[in-house]
Amino acid sequence: MSVKINSLELENVKRIRAVKIEPSASGLTVIGGKNNQGKTSVLDSIAWALGGDRFRPSSAVREGSVIPPYLRIELSNGLIVERKGKNSDLKVIDPAGNKSGQQLLNEFISAFALDLPKFMNANNHEKADTLLQIIGVGDRLYELERIEREVYNNRHAIGQIADSKRKHASEMPFYNDVPDELISASELIKQQQDILARNGENARKRLECDRYNRELAEAQIAFDAAQTRLREAEQNAVIARTSAENLLDESTAELEKNIADIELINNKIRTNLEKEKAEEDAKDYNNKYDELTASLNDIRKQKYDLLHNVELPLDNLSVEDGELTYNGFKWDNMSGSDQLRVAAAIVRKLNPDCGFVLLDKLEQMDIDTLNSFGEWLEQEGLQAIATRVSTGDECSIIIEDGYSKKDDVVTTGGVF
Ligand SMILES: Nc1ncnc2c1ncn2[C@@H]1O[C@H](COP(=O)(O)OP(=O)(O)OP(=O)(O)O)[C@@H](O)[C@H]1O
Ligand SMILES: [Mg+2]
Repeated sequence: MSVKINSLELENVKRIRAVKIEPSASGLTVIGGKNNQGKTSVLDSIAWALGGDRFRPSSAVREGSVIPPYLRIELSNGLIVERKGKNSDLKVIDPAGNKSGQQLLNEFISAFALDLPKFMNANNHEKADTLLQIIGVGDRLYELERIEREVYNNRHAIGQIADSKRKHASEMPFYNDVPDELISASELIKQQQDILARNGENARKRLECDRYNRELAEAQIAFDAAQTRLREAEQNAVIARTSAENLLDESTAELEKNIADIELINNKIRTNLEKEKAEEDAKDYNNKYDELTASLNDIRKQKYDLLHNVELPLDNLSVEDGELTYNGFKWDNMSGSDQLRVAAAIVRKLNPDCGFVLLDKLEQMDIDTLNSFGEWLEQEGLQAIATRVSTGDECSIIIEDGYSKKDDVVTTGGVF
């Protein structure tokens, strides 16, 4: 059960002479009055009484008073908190009559509930941080945002490389009159060597023919003695002549030309291959860019899911780009009353044991907004003690010259 203020009694603190209030247990208790009458002094006194010396006003004692300040607050958990005497010493008594101290108060009093301006004046990122930490997704969201930034920067760099690769590839020359693959010189040389080998064989055959011709001549001289040998030699000569007659030497001119052209052609082929590689490169980087876009979208969806699957202190509250938003508006675009509503909701979640919140300057809300705010506070079971420059019916109590004007103790919220 969250702790609330049952009653408070203040004397001689700041502008206050004597004020007694019994705020309603939930919803708004509006402290009204004209300017400079002591309204904010009431809130400052509560903060000092419950929050400890760091909330002590710089001039706590009412000027002109010979009696030191007296503060007494009864809390809904039965604790009685007092400051009194020359040094305004703190005295905390529990329902059993035992003495206690500031430490016990700190367990259920939220510093933000006492010092709402601290939250309201925090920068946009700090506000978002507070919200994210209460709903328990801060670390995960920051991790997603870190990854998002990383992927985004990565994609940006890849995109730039892809662009320049594409540009580079488009500016490279291309030759249509050459084969797709590099020509091998060794193959042509081998063909040449084969031809030369065959030509060698031809040369050998020609020599053989010559030899037989010589033998024929010798055989002519020894015709009589070697009739048989002559015929044989004649036959051989005939055969050899026929064989030699049909021989045709192949030309290596074409190959020689090709060998000479090889370097030229290969240069063109290399250029073509480089262009293809550059185009391939550009395509790869384009694909990478598309993949990174997909993961960026995925991370953004995870962020969206993270924030939309948790219970938020207030409907339509969210965090965008590390800043708090309400109904899609960032803090500086929220109306003053929306800011108060958001702040109260967040402060409420921050320490659920603390059942109240102090709100200064509620005059920025019109009566309708004030009523709907009061209803929301009641729904939430949250007690708000607020000040408002007004002496209208919406006020639960009017402060005038440091006194509660209605001397009777207020027991209802009093918003109309
Ligand atoms: N210790 C003090 N003794 C006497 N007067 C003081 C003391 N401290 C502040 N004041 C005076 O109290 C007045 C402000 O009091 P307080 O802020 O409570 O008024 P308020 O009703 O909230 O005014 P506003 O409507 O302008 O917010 C100022 O005039 C200030 O000079
Ligand atoms: Mg004030």
